[in-house]
Amino acid sequence: MNTIELKGVSKIYNNGVKALDNVSFKMNQGEFITIMGQSGSGKSTFLQIAGLLDKCTSGMVIINDQDVSKLSQNHLADIRKKSLGFVFQNFHLNAHLKLYENIMLPMLINEEYKTKDEMKKKAMELINMIGLSHRINHYPGELSGGEQQRVAIARAMANNPDFILADEPTGNLDSKNEIIIFEELKKLAQSGKGVLVVSHNDAVIDFADKIYIMKDGALEEKKNAE
Ligand SMILES: Nc1ncnc2c1ncn2[C@@H]1O[C@H](COP(=O)(O)OP(=O)(O)OP(=O)(O)O)[C@@H](O)[C@H]1O
Ligand SMILES: [Mg+2]
Repeated sequence: MNTIELKGVSKIYNNGVKALDNVSFKMNQGEFITIMGQSGSGKSTFLQIAGLLDKCTSGMVIINDQDVSKLSQNHLADIRKKSLGFVFQNFHLNAHLKLYENIMLPMLINEEYKTKDEMKKKAMELINMIGLSHRINHYPGELSGGEQQRVAIARAMANNPDFILADEPTGNLDSKNEIIIFEELKKLAQSGKGVLVVSHNDAVIDFADKIYIMKDGALEEKKNAE
């Protein structure tokens, strides 16, 4: 999967809220793109639609030149599972699984991992990356907000996706850890992954190849002032 594209996408929720208004966007693997904007402007809605977790009301979502509305549910599920990694705004960790088991969870539905040992080895690599090797047997409820967030980021990388979509991945982190996370995401983009980050955090600006601003459901690219 090489590209994610939206053409004239609008989203009106059942309660009548127009969360996206005629949004067009395209990103390639290897790019680090950031979306900024006020609370309620439509950023999470955009990420959910670009990541095939929700459907738009009008317009088109195109993946690798294929209109996703023409793909079967199975095909879409396959794309989500193998090609997309999500970091959700509120983590969505499983409270009943230990840290390393949370990270292994997406691997269980990936045929590329043959044994639990293989999955655990990969989970340990990712845990090392996020600096939580001393916490592997902890449950999410025993971790700080920032630690849970780092687990969610590691989990998004479990299946080696082509694109990582992250909603406020540093919302609960201190400045040292937020830079570590942005550096990791930047490395992933440089290694050829597409990284799409929703953030309120100005620190992300130094890492992004492109910055977009969401305002009242409309997306606009921010050009450098001079
Ligand atoms: N499931 C839903 N049903 C109805 N309205 C929704 C739903 N989800 C979001 N909205 C509304 O759509 C608008 C955009 O919401 P969204 O969550 O995309 O904003 P956001 O930019 O991510 O905000 P934040 O920075 O606070 O996370 C808001 O007005 C919100 O109230
Ligand atoms: Mg949001």
